[in-house]
Amino acid sequence: MAPLRVAGTVRVPGDKSISHRSLILASLAEGESRVTGILDSDDVRSTADSLRALGGNIPELSSEMRIRGSGLRGLRPPKRALDCGNSGTTTRLLAGVVAGHPFSARFEGDSSLSRRPMKRIAEPLSYMGAQVDFERGDGLPMTVHGVDLRSIDWDTKSASAQVKSAILLAGLVSQVEVRVTESGRSRDHTERMLRAMGVDVENDRNRVCLKPARRLTPLDIAVPADPSSAAFFVALATLATEGELQLDDVCLNPTRIGFLDALKRMGGDIRASARPGEGGEEIGTLTVRPAALAKARITWAEVPALIDELPLLACVAAAAGVELIVTGAAELRVKESDRISVVVQNLRAVGASAEELPDGLQVRAGPREFSGDVDPRGDHRIAMAFGVLSAVSGNRIKIRNPECVAVSYPKFWEDLRRVAS
Ligand code: S3P
Repeated sequence: MAPLRVAGTVRVPGDKSISHRSLILASLAEGESRVTGILDSDDVRSTADSLRALGGNIPELSSEMRIRGSGLRGLRPPKRALDCGNSGTTTRLLAGVVAGHPFSARFEGDSSLSRRPMKRIAEPLSYMGAQVDFERGDGLPMTVHGVDLRSIDWDTKSASAQVKSAILLAGLVSQVEVRVTESGRSRDHTERMLRAMGVDVENDRNRVCLKPARRLTPLDIAVPADPSSAAFFVALATLATEGELQLDDVCLNPTRIGFLDALKRMGGDIRASARPGEGGEEIGTLTVRPAALAKARITWAEVPALIDELPLLACVAAAAGVELIVTGAAELRVKESDRISVVVQNLRAVGASAEELPDGLQVRAGPREFSGDVDPRGDHRIAMAFGVLSAVSGNRIKIRNPECVAVSYPKFWEDLRRVAS
C-alpha cells in the first residue's frame, strides 16, 4: 500500500456560524462594524442576500468588510421573499430577527432546507407573540409576521444553537428579557458576540439569560478559521502514514471542539496552542501527526460539541478499522440530509460495515480499504468526510456532485490536493 504523506499548513476559511452572526449583528448595531476574514460561501451569501432584502447595508462579501448598521429595529419590510438557499442558520436566526420587527417576511429555501423542521422556532416565537404560517407541514416556505414581542423563559427539547439564537435575537430586537434552557450546551457564538457588543448576556451551563439592551455597539472581529472545516484536515493527518499538518487560527471555542477531544481519546496526536481572539472567541494553532486509533463510543452528552463532525468521525473509524458507536444523535436526521442514513448507506456502498441506530450509528471494525461510488445527496459535510476517506492510501472512491462543498468550503478539494501526496 502506497504511503499517504501530509505536509504543510492550512488556514481553512472563516467559521460559518460566526460569519452568519457577524453579518446579522453588524446589521443591528448602531454605527460601522468591521468584519475581516468572513467565510465567502453559499450559506453566508444566503444570509447576506436576505439581510439586503430586509434593507441591511451589506456590501459584497470580501476579506475586509465595513457594515453600517441600521440599529436594533431599523430593518425594513422586504419586497421579495428571503431566499435562504441551503442554510438552516440563515432561516432560523433571521426568523428571530423578523419576529421582533413590525412587518412580515416569507422565507424560502432549496429542497433540502424545505424539508427541515421549523416548528422548533415557530413555537417559541409564537409564544412571544409573533405569528408563523406554514404552507405545508412545518417546513419552508414559512411566513413570519413580526410584532412587539413579550419576554420568554423557554426550555428547548434539544440542544440547538439555532433555536437558542432565534430566541435571543427576537428578545434583543424587541428589547425584552429572554431565558433559554437547553438539554445540552450548544455552541455559544451568539452570546459571546453579543457580550462583545455591550449586551448583558449570562451563561450558566445550559441556561442563558439576555437582558434588554438599548443599542448594540459596532462589532470589530477577525473571523477565526472554522473548526468544522479544520476537522477534515485533522482527520487526514491522523490517518496519514507520514508527515505533519499545521492548522492556523482555528476557533477553539469549547462548545465546538468535541471532535478534537473524541479523536484524542481514540489516540489522536493533536497539539493545540490557544490564545484569546476577537469577538470573545478563543483561537489557536493545531499540529496533527499520524496516529493509530482505538475504538470509541459517543453518547448524547458529547454530541452538541461535535454534531457536525459525526459523519467525519464515522469515516475516520472506518478508515482506521476500529469500531465506533454513536447514540443520542437523532438530530443528525434533520440536518442538510438525514446524516445517519446517508453516512451508513455510503459507508456500505464502499465496502465498510455500518448500521443505522434510531438515534445514531455503528461502524464495525473491518476491512480498511474501500472502493465504490459515494452519493452525498448534496450534503457538503458528507462529501468532505468521504473526501478524506478517498484520500487515504489504497482507497478508490468517487464522489458524486463534489461541488456541493460550496455551501461551507468552496476550495476544499484544492486544499486537500495541496497537502496530501
Ligand atoms: C449552527 C448550529 C447547529 C449546527 C449548524 C450551525 C449554528 O445546528 O449543526 O451547522 O450556526 O447555530 P442546530 O442549532 O440545529 O443544532
